[in-house]
Amino acid sequence: MTTTIEVGMLGLGTVGSGVVERLTRSATKIEQTQGIRLHLAAVVVNHLNAHRSVQLPIGTRLTDSLTNVVCDQQIQLIIEVMGTVATAKAAIVAALNQGKAVVTANKDLIATAGPELAALAKKRGCDLFYEASVAGGIPILRTLTDSYATDNVQSVSGIINGTANYILSAMTAGQSYEQALAAAQTAGYAEADPTNDVAGVDAAYKLMILSRFAFGQELTLSQIRPVGITALTAVDCQLAAENGWGVKLLAQIQQHVTGLYCRVAPVAIPTNQSLSQINGVQNAIVIQSEAIGTGLYTGPGAGSTATANSVLNDVLVAAKHLISDHQAVRNPEPAAPLTVARLDQLTQTYLGFSTVSQEELKRRANEADFSVEFVTANCYRIAALSAVQRDKLRAELPINLIPIANTTVWPQTSENTITTPVNVAI
Ligand SMILES: NC(=O)c1ccc[n+]([C@@H]2O[C@H](COP(=O)([O-])OP(=O)(O)OC[C@H]3O[C@@H](n4cnc5c(N)ncnc54)[C@H](OP(=O)(O)O)[C@@H]3O)[C@@H](O)[C@H]2O)c1
Repeated sequence: MTTTIEVGMLGLGTVGSGVVERLTRSATKIEQTQGIRLHLAAVVVNHLNAHRSVQLPIGTRLTDSLTNVVCDQQIQLIIEVMGTVATAKAAIVAALNQGKAVVTANKDLIATAGPELAALAKKRGCDLFYEASVAGGIPILRTLTDSYATDNVQSVSGIINGTANYILSAMTAGQSYEQALAAAQTAGYAEADPTNDVAGVDAAYKLMILSRFAFGQELTLSQIRPVGITALTAVDCQLAAENGWGVKLLAQIQQHVTGLYCRVAPVAIPTNQSLSQINGVQNAIVIQSEAIGTGLYTGPGAGSTATANSVLNDVLVAAKHLISDHQAVRNPEPAAPLTVARLDQLTQTYLGFSTVSQEELKRRANEADFSVEFVTANCYRIAALSAVQRDKLRAELPINLIPIANTTVWPQTSENTITTPVNVAI
């Protein structure tokens, strides 16, 4: 027996078009294997007369009225793929208040208003899923929910912004930042305004969502204080690569007995470690946990088809729940809040790119009790550098300092021996 679920979709851009295509392609399979017919009743867009690359199924109405779709009593499930924060939030709230299930790909909204929306969904007995909001095509939230349910996650480290990774890969291959950004925009990987991607804000939003699923902890953007990739040069990236490091915009969150440590910043990762080999728009996430150990999850972080696939998988789960009148428990419950600090505040080792002489750096190292090792012309390995010393060097010398992964000196506590997560395998 086939049950029909009436679906409304907000947005018909990159992801929305992919949803229509995937839905059309897999309709028969979904019907045969799941016994569900997903009927796309209506789609909302901003510009009703704009040219569309995708053809809507016969009978799907196209409208520019959000209310018209969100308040349609026939529609049981809303897919929100239009972006924006305030408008999308208002639409999702309205949908949940009417008992509709909601699936969204909107990381900006879920990072900032996720708990509030999840609480409303719970109160209304509705599903609210957002797998596509983190790492596009990689089912990382489902994996954290299902496969780590009895495990104890110790750290999550990821390359979760495809645009920044594409630009860094291109810079390592010799392009300037401007050339790499222009190439990313031409290829459709970067938006016309790429600020959130290159400033690390997008990666920070995704880390905020991952933190909920991995640790039950709420992070704020001001706690993370993301550092982007705009201060890096192609020469920095190439020097790092020639000497055994890949520079990646890494989003990290790590539990320690003294609290939760987070960072979104460019990090130098030894080339023999898996994350260092992730290039272009690919995403990858390493989860370190008590039972599984090291798990590496990699795949397309964005793109029409992969993201749409993620959205549709959520739609199917929500559709099954609508049929069985059962709500899923995918939104994580908050844990007791931990102290949050930034990894950048801890003493660690840096790659330093500078035209300052070896003698000058050595003199400062002797004075201030850190060490400098000459790697190659204009590239130094600077060890045991505290945050204060790092900031002083940056203020006084023309030097670009990039932390080297896994070199953090953890604060000592009496319980340290049991829980210090010193070596994160990335
Ligand atoms: N692109 C990706 O690979 C990707 C991956 C993961 C998550 N996401 C997330 O998915 C969402 C959609 O991204 P996208 O790349 O598909 O965006 P997009 O290409 O810019 O498409 C946005 C769509 O929403 C419509 N829209 C925007 N504001 C609207 C409003 N106020 N009322 C009605 N319709 C409105 C637009 O209408 P018009 O077409 O008429 O302008 C357009 O069809 C975002 O939250 C994004 O962060 C995207």
